[in-house]
Amino acid sequence: MKGIILAGGTGSRLFPTTLAVSKQLFPIGDKPMIYYPLSTLMLAGITDILVITTPGDLPQYRRLLGDGSQLGLNLTYAVQPEPKGLAEAFIIGADHIAGGPVALVLGDNIFHGQRFYDLLQQHLTGVRGCVLFGYPVTDPGRYGVGETDDEGRLVALEEKPKHPRSNRAITGLYGYDSDVVDIAKNLRPSARGELEITDVNRTYLRSGRAELVDLGRGFAWLDTGTPESLLQASLYVRTLEERQGVRIACVEEVALRMGFIDAESCYELGRRLGSSDYGRYVMDIAKEFS
Ligand code: TTP
Repeated sequence: MKGIILAGGTGSRLFPTTLAVSKQLFPIGDKPMIYYPLSTLMLAGITDILVITTPGDLPQYRRLLGDGSQLGLNLTYAVQPEPKGLAEAFIIGADHIAGGPVALVLGDNIFHGQRFYDLLQQHLTGVRGCVLFGYPVTDPGRYGVGETDDEGRLVALEEKPKHPRSNRAITGLYGYDSDVVDIAKNLRPSARGELEITDVNRTYLRSGRAELVDLGRGFAWLDTGTPESLLQASLYVRTLEERQGVRIACVEEVALRMGFIDAESCYELGRRLGSSDYGRYVMDIAKEFS
């Protein structure tokens, strides 16, 4: 399965901070935001990943992540000239997807919860049709919203509804079979001028091929679009990390645990960052494994 991280957008709710720097490069806790969605894809076992961002921001992402080989990944890059909607990712990424299944994660979405690995393996790997992940929120009207019947089957999807019919937001992690490229190519822009991912998902829903997986209350799905949510996400991550002594979305650790790199390479990655606590953590984990 291929992966795409969509890390473009304007980040207008974070102006003026995002005037010069891409939101998905901001620190959350002690690491750049994009480490979180990247580690989500890695936990799903995905190593072939396309990062889509704005023309101006692409050099910084390349500087941060390179070709991904240090993490046992194959990272490639593409630009989205203007933020014309999430579904444009499948058109820009058509060659990358190359007729197989794909997982899309938004560059500003943070997922954390027990057995996330199992959940990803169970629902994302070998996806037929599309799989969406739902999460209960107090303000569903800000998101795509999914409605289910009594048996938990998805029956309706709405984009930012004024009167949401459920509190279940559709999160920024999506799995699709190869039909997604043709579906995206046939979309028309919405009233706000974007190619809407909700329209892609509705096409799958109409043909009875959309599944909704509930993440539930034991899970954290954090969004980082506003100054408040950015701060809350950082506090959440640091609180857990300091309390438990483990790190969330340490990509070197994920690469090691997933078997993408060996302990020696992991140690070397940590050594290069050695003057930070993060670097020392990576070295300690590598030592545990060797
Ligand atoms: P949004 O939160 O909808 O948009 P944004 O990040 O530009 O922020 P704001 O609303 O404050 O202007 O986007 C969700 C994610 O998707 C985020 O990581 C940016 C990314 N994105 C793109 O890469 N391209 C797009 O065309 C859109 C709409 C979003």
